[in-house]
Amino acid sequence: MSLGPGDRSLLVAEALEALREAEVIVGYTTYLELIPDLTPGKKVLGSGMRKEIPRCRAAIEHARNGHRVALVSSGDAGIYGMAGLVLDLCRDSGLRVCSVREKPPETCDLQFEVIPGVAAFNAAASLVGAPLMHDFAAVSLSDHLTPWELIEKRLQAVAAADFVTAVYNPRSKARPDLLEKACEILLEHRSPETPVAIVRRAKRQGEWVHLTTLDRIPFDEVDMQSILLIGNSRTYLWDRWMVTPRGYLDKYGEGAEGEGREAGSERLRARRLDHCGPDAESG
Ligand SMILES: C[S@@+](CC[C@H](N)C(=O)[O-])C[C@H]1O[C@@H](n2cnc3c(N)ncnc32)[C@H](O)[C@@H]1O
Repeated sequence: MSLGPGDRSLLVAEALEALREAEVIVGYTTYLELIPDLTPGKKVLGSGMRKEIPRCRAAIEHARNGHRVALVSSGDAGIYGMAGLVLDLCRDSGLRVCSVREKPPETCDLQFEVIPGVAAFNAAASLVGAPLMHDFAAVSLSDHLTPWELIEKRLQAVAAADFVTAVYNPRSKARPDLLEKACEILLEHRSPETPVAIVRRAKRQGEWVHLTTLDRIPFDEVDMQSILLIGNSRTYLWDRWMVTPRGYLDKYGEGAEGEGREAGSERLRARRLDHCGPDAESG
């Protein structure tokens, strides 16, 4: 189940109910520290980084023994979280997993449910305005489970296709140069003035928000609790806001009639440059 970004007001009601009803709560220790009031009286199994497989196995084992288990992930459990690993492990072990939403057939080994949450990209986007108003993609720079060559290929593809891009796991202690390399790839396809939002600890204590452009990213300020939202070719900064137009004003705005899409786009680009205020900061 999903904890959301950390702020209790963003824990969905279904997740809160699952935590209250759980007999066993399993998770990465840092995430369990976000819910200390919900763990008393329950068996709590916390573990550290790189312990994802034993963590999920323990959750499966307890559930198979008849306990109600909440396996927590931050943000949304189905986005770089534990939901997929639980299903991978059950499939590998030949377990039949049924949904809590259906009457369990006799062959069911485990009842399972993914409770959604507010992902880091949602939380970060809400803090800077409306950067995800058009097609977007998420790319994780973590090369722990994914070869860097594949990450590069995906960055090339999303940059060439002009997707707004949420960059997860932007910097690790072991590979502090990953973000610089990623930006070099993006700059092959995007203007240096492309707006970028850097959000550290979105909707958690210590939140920090920084608006800048693709050629001016303060790399040292970015850590593993940060996410970057990189605009597309039409994204603009205006005062303290980052906005990706959906295209309404091109089609229906004043002067749109007879102006045509290209001219409309030029008008918006000009407006973007007028109002562009790189390095605006808040938080
Ligand atoms: C393993 S992923 C977890 C993603 C999470 N399941 C989600 O739905 O957003 C961890 C990465 O998510 C991003 N992240 C998670 N929570 C964040 C937050 N509150 N603020 C900024 N970035 C966050 C960071 O990039 C971090 O390195």
